[in-house]
Amino acid sequence: MDPVRNPYAPGAGQRPPELAGRDRQLTQFEVTLQRVAAGRPERSMVLSGLRGVGKTVLLNALRGLAVQRAWGTGKLEARPELSMRLPLAQAVHAAVREVAHRHRDPDRVDAVAGVLKSFALRTSVSDRKGVRWQPGSAIEVPATRGRADSGDLELDLVELFTDVADLARDLAVGIAVFVDEMQDLAASELAALCGACHEISQQGAPLLVVGAGLPHLPVTLAASKSYAERLFHYVVVDRLPQEMSDRALLVPAAAEGVDFEPEALDELYALTDGYPYFVQAYGKVTWDSAPASPIRVVDVREAAPEAEGELAVGFFGARYDRATPAERDYMRTMADLAVHTDDGAVSTADIARELARRPQSLSPARDGLIKKGLVYSSERGTVAFTVPHFGRFLRQQSG
Ligand SMILES: Nc1ncnc2c1ncn2[C@@H]1O[C@H](COP(=O)(O)OP(=O)(O)OP(=O)(O)O)[C@@H](O)[C@H]1O
Ligand SMILES: [Mg+2]
Repeated sequence: MDPVRNPYAPGAGQRPPELAGRDRQLTQFEVTLQRVAAGRPERSMVLSGLRGVGKTVLLNALRGLAVQRAWGTGKLEARPELSMRLPLAQAVHAAVREVAHRHRDPDRVDAVAGVLKSFALRTSVSDRKGVRWQPGSAIEVPATRGRADSGDLELDLVELFTDVADLARDLAVGIAVFVDEMQDLAASELAALCGACHEISQQGAPLLVVGAGLPHLPVTLAASKSYAERLFHYVVVDRLPQEMSDRALLVPAAAEGVDFEPEALDELYALTDGYPYFVQAYGKVTWDSAPASPIRVVDVREAAPEAEGELAVGFFGARYDRATPAERDYMRTMADLAVHTDDGAVSTADIARELARRPQSLSPARDGLIKKGLVYSSERGTVAFTVPHFGRFLRQQSG
């Protein structure tokens, strides 16, 4: 069928034509926004899940809800080995700008901008690599010395958040900062961020930090501050049940006057397991190769090898290529052992035994893979792939 009208959108952070199966989380966040704006106690939200399940697009949808309520919003993507101070300052700056032009008191706006600038300027030179405090967006007020610039991140965040939240409260709205790939924040920064959120929520200030990251993010947060468990509402973003996976395919197709036969949908679900990235990828290829509506099961079967090939290159291959030879050996052994598990979690002791190595000698490979976001460990002594179906992909490669 006409590829120009193909509605499906495989790709990291690509907004799906139909955000299926996330109504509960959206509704819940609506309530959170209203409660926080009213100064009522409420936990913020942290999304966690495997690669390609739709954390980023859900995070963006939550941001959209905050924007609809006229909140100030900003977003950053954490990166390993990069301090969050500057990216966070930029995100908060974006949020402040969204509310500042509606504020009646320019002096108050300038005062907050000055604090934000002093917070940003406290960034060490080594942490400025790759991120600039853009002259174009620069705040044209002098930095306010002595506020949010102590160098103690937690203290500075509390001061910054307090002032920014006060500005939003004047307008009966709030500020929401969205942090994607949150597991990549350094432990000390994660602790500082939790500490600041804790303090801010006790003050009843209308500011939310909403996070998204890999499945071990809740464990990482709990390790950074003992009360993190009570600070956030943890939402596991998971693969879609068939009804929702069908919806993700049917609704965009219907908008183009195209239908699927039920057997075609069953076949697609068997192939994708309801993982959103796979749903989009198979949907896209199937659409292009099907001759006409309704899309039939034979169309799906004919298109499947191409979809698989694209995933092998883009989704799996690109990640596999980032691993060192030692890391690849480690993952192949993981993949072989994962066959015997229900949840894909493999014991690190078993991996060492299989490779005839001492467990400690494998720590660099494991840590490297965790840093690259290919593997995670939610439970001591076990590892699992962050990428769905990765074990299967690796077994096919070697088999
Ligand atoms: N609820 C949904 N319904 C339909 N498609 C979805 C849904 N959520 C995500 N998708 C699609 O899945 C793909 C992956 O989404 P996204 O990039 O948000 O995943 P992610 O969890 O952030 O992955 P990563 O961990 O790699 O960053 C995109 O192509 C997106 O359009
Ligand atoms: Mg993402």
